[in-house]
Amino acid sequence: MSSPFPFARPRTDAPPPADGEDREAPPGPAHTGDGRLPGDPTVQDRIARMVRVDQAGEYGARRIYQGQLAVLGHRPDAAEIRHMAAQEERHLDYFNREMVVRRVRPTALSPLWHAAGFTLGAATALLGPKAAMACTEAVETEIDRHYRRQLAQLGQEEAALRQKIDDFRKEELEHRDTAIAAGSAEAPAHPVLTAAIRAASRTAIWLSERV
Ligand SMILES: [Fe+2]
Ligand SMILES: [Fe+2]
Repeated sequence: MSSPFPFARPRTDAPPPADGEDREAPPGPAHTGDGRLPGDPTVQDRIARMVRVDQAGEYGARRIYQGQLAVLGHRPDAAEIRHMAAQEERHLDYFNREMVVRRVRPTALSPLWHAAGFTLGAATALLGPKAAMACTEAVETEIDRHYRRQLAQLGQEEAALRQKIDDFRKEELEHRDTAIAAGSAEAPAHPVLTAAIRAASRTAIWLSERV
């Protein structure tokens, strides 16, 4: 059983794997919850948690890109950010619908992600376009890891959900690669900035699964 304290979890802030290693989705078990132990959350609870945290994450992503565009939207190179923001809208729409169909309540922390996402996007954009890209690189690296962890747990009976998560994950990797290609590594204090944003992203994921 994992520790209830997010900072005691195994470190996941290693550099992203070399190109290609993270492109394939983990296969996942035949059924969600295979290997479940007495006292573990039920299969229905597990899937509800996944949909809840994914909706929260996509909501936060939308707010980050909105914050970036509030600062950088007038620049000619904002088209890249707009393209990523449009993809986040599709991701969010999907999880919004899944929450209704599956009767999953949203995280109680939605108002926090509303404010924190926008603030993170705007604050990094105010440091400059490269810092905005460093933020995207950091967040999308964690979202890829998060989606891969879900795919490793989600059974084949949830084929449609698996497919969507993997499609979205590939787009998140495109966002990360776009950010790197745009010079995210040249952002001021890149290692500290990305490490802090990745830690914050992991904490947000941990909280949204539970609250
Ligand atoms: Fe997304
Ligand atoms: Fe994304």
